[in-house]
Amino acid sequence: MVTLMASSSRSQFSSRFGFIMAAAGSAVGLGNVWGFPTQAASNGGAVFLFVYLIMVFLLAFPMLVAELTIGRYGQSNAIRSFRSAWPKGKAFAIVLGIGGLIVVSLILSFYSIVAGWLMGSFADSSLNLVGLADKSHWLTTFGTERNLVLMVIFMLLTMHVVRSGVADGIEKWSTRLMPLLFVLFGLLTVYIFTQDGSLEGLKMYLVPDFSHLTPELVVSAMGQAFFSLSLGVCVMTTYGSYLQKDTNIPKTAAQVALIDTGVAFIAGLVVLPAMFVAKHHGVQIFSDSGTLLNSDTLVFTVLPALFDTMGEMGAVVGAVFFLLMIIAALTSSISMLEVPVSCATEELKISRNKAVLLIGGVVIIASAAIVTNFNLLFGFVVNFTTVYSQPIIALLITLIVGWIWNRNQILTELKQGYPEIEKSLFWKIWPTYVRVVCPILMLLVFFA
Ligand code: PHE
Repeated sequence: MVTLMASSSRSQFSSRFGFIMAAAGSAVGLGNVWGFPTQAASNGGAVFLFVYLIMVFLLAFPMLVAELTIGRYGQSNAIRSFRSAWPKGKAFAIVLGIGGLIVVSLILSFYSIVAGWLMGSFADSSLNLVGLADKSHWLTTFGTERNLVLMVIFMLLTMHVVRSGVADGIEKWSTRLMPLLFVLFGLLTVYIFTQDGSLEGLKMYLVPDFSHLTPELVVSAMGQAFFSLSLGVCVMTTYGSYLQKDTNIPKTAAQVALIDTGVAFIAGLVVLPAMFVAKHHGVQIFSDSGTLLNSDTLVFTVLPALFDTMGEMGAVVGAVFFLLMIIAALTSSISMLEVPVSCATEELKISRNKAVLLIGGVVIIASAAIVTNFNLLFGFVVNFTTVYSQPIIALLITLIVGWIWNRNQILTELKQGYPEIEKSLFWKIWPTYVRVVCPILMLLVFFA
């Protein structure tokens, strides 16, 4: 009731906690529990961690504040929010908003395929648990049919949550699933350190060897930071538009970034030691040429092989591990679908139900096209969206915030949840920082 009265008929997150869980839910995803640990593992461990932390602090956090603030100011979908920040730049806002919407839908179309594999592995571990190991071969064997079926199931789950709306769908599911994710992760971390070999992985993860530091590593760390905080695809502008006006945006953004980075860190704390525990059990983790096996081999072959060596307990650990991944993926995929859905309901004036069916349907078709032309399209779509599009859109957003949007309007917007902001260190640094340092840093890294 309170939230309804606060802003005419537009929906809102019902509490700050709910918002943090939803935004952290979007941020924490396969990028954290899979992308980060495997990138760290193949890029020298501790050095990657170190550069990544710098990237989050120097680039991603200020950007997150920018995206949330535009959204809350605009009180609308991404296209319209960009327009309110730059009333004269109508065409630009439309192109940027639609660009973000297309990129995020493409991300969802490959994300749901990977999430489908995770569901397959989860079902496989669960069947093992009840002694039906021989029934589950199909679930974990790469094949067009399996990829299609599992992807569609995951998409239907995502669509179901988004259909229920912001507070009753996204917020409710995120506040249930995220704490569960933290608990499961905690248990898994403790367990892995009881195993032989784990300390070798811990050493690789925490003791830096700066000979690994290369320009490519810095670019990867930047891309990883953008992807992980769901930046450059209008997700955070959209979520920001559902944020209550009395919320302190810099503080909330810091908490979201902290949770996201914390989960990535802990995921590394599980996966790197787990790799070496696997090695200790005789599972191959390095190829013959001495490089680490690629990331899907690690997640879908090495870790399950490790779980197998743990006997009865292994099936439980495996099921928990994959369940974790599915939860992380779902709270991210719902945020992706919400971007086009919010545009469609507000711009085309269609119901949420219809928008979800329509857009979910289109994403399923795109996803099916990737599945059926896997070798040709999968890597291409991943690269096109995460390596190029996300940083470019993020750069354009910083340019709007830094150069075009009236600074007094930004201040007034931020002040609503942070009345003393003008005197804060944050306000002394951030506006100029977003204006000058962020774009330069991004261009530098990008053209490196
Ligand atoms: N941040 C999510 C992850 O780390 C992925 C994501 C990207 C979510 C873009 C929304 C938008 O997995």
